[in-house]
Amino acid sequence: SSGATRTPDGALSVAGIDLRALAAEHGTPAYVLDEADFRSRARAYREAFEHAFAGIGTGVDVYYAGKAFLSVAVARWAHEEGLRVDTATGGELAVALRAGLSGADIGLHGNNKSDAEIDRALAAGVGRIIVDSLGEVERVAAAVRARGGEPAPVMVRVTTGVHAGGHEYISTAHEDQKFGLSMAEPDDGSLSPALTALRAVVDRPELRLLGIHSHIGSQILDPSGFEVAAHKVMGLRAALLSQTGVLVPEVDLGGGFGIAYLPEDVPLDPARVADDLASAVARACAALGTPLPRISIEPGRAIVGPTTLTLYTVGTVKDVTVDGEQPFTRRYVSVDGGMSDNLRPALYGAAYHADLASRTGDAAPVLARVVGKHCESGDIVVHEVRLPGDVRPGDLLAVPATGAYGRSMASNYNHVPRPPVVAVRDGSSRVIVRRETEDDLLALDQG
Ligand code: LLP
Repeated sequence: SSGATRTPDGALSVAGIDLRALAAEHGTPAYVLDEADFRSRARAYREAFEHAFAGIGTGVDVYYAGKAFLSVAVARWAHEEGLRVDTATGGELAVALRAGLSGADIGLHGNNKSDAEIDRALAAGVGRIIVDSLGEVERVAAAVRARGGEPAPVMVRVTTGVHAGGHEYISTAHEDQKFGLSMAEPDDGSLSPALTALRAVVDRPELRLLGIHSHIGSQILDPSGFEVAAHKVMGLRAALLSQTGVLVPEVDLGGGFGIAYLPEDVPLDPARVADDLASAVARACAALGTPLPRISIEPGRAIVGPTTLTLYTVGTVKDVTVDGEQPFTRRYVSVDGGMSDNLRPALYGAAYHADLASRTGDAAPVLARVVGKHCESGDIVVHEVRLPGDVRPGDLLAVPATGAYGRSMASNYNHVPRPPVVAVRDGSSRVIVRRETEDDLLALDQG
């Protein structure tokens, strides 16, 4: 976590726990999650957005995006810190319910929800179902009709043409991806898919149009994309008002707030992005002459990403000569996990950092590549990092900022059991998701 410090004899410790002791107790690899850090990031986002939007005269709800990492414990912490929980599947919904959240504090996303998922969400009384297609509008309405009861609160996910992520955003008129309903008007002058779906929701007595939803991307470090998207969504809301007389009460601006992965990275500042967004929303509504909506956001990575480090044990160290105009030696440091516990380097080329955690090291740093134990050459944990030249088998390595999309995208490739998530707080540790065992894996095998 960003809160790791060194003990007097040079080991890393988190929340008052020496990582050597933690490894001895829980084994490696392990995800080590700093509970206080999780809570304070959740609070920081809630308070920054509440403050900024109170300043323009409206309210905010912050939903923790469970896809980044969800367990019963973190769902509870998020809730205790005043957040709700955004789920993307029936499975995530089950975790949030198991954590004791009431349906009203849960949202359900998904571009291809099953009838069973829709029914489960309705049975739980979720606070919002975010619909992603016209067909789904009909299916949710049919499910409500079959069950009876109150109209379902529905948000329509739209695509604004703004795509963001990394350091920039692009704004295009048309979309070529699976999520949401396009705001772009067809050339024949007919309604956009977004307006068509909004009007379909308005027309269905089984549905209550709660909001418009826009999510523009992930790991966004330049907040201007959010502002452009907010302007576009406010325009859509005004268009629906003038066409139908219906004023959409809420607008969700999605997640995507970027974090630091490397020591030199500068994360998005929640206070700054909240202020920028609040003034963008206020300007847009003033220009359009529409009342302010209630706002919601769905940060996942920004709440949990920096709170967790993955602790590995070094198994082998191998020097490889890399040919070329200037041949050089690259040190391959193999650890006891890899792409099964962090797919992001292999899948996205994502950059991470690593620190020697069991001691400081005595030799001058060398350029190293940290790799895993899987049967695949792309099984890379950290592409490039300077590690002390005396890193050796038995040393512990800590890879920071693995809390988001690490455990949640973990696999059992090569029948490797998935690591535990160990929460640390005030000098004590607690397993919140236990390590898988070979028996867990074999239990699925029916012979
Ligand atoms: N809301 C919606 C509708 C989303 O689709 C997402 C992420 C979020 C919220 C949360 O975004 P966050 O604040 O965590 O960036 N596996 C990829 C990230 C996929 C994000 C998908 N949607 C990764 O590891 O980078």
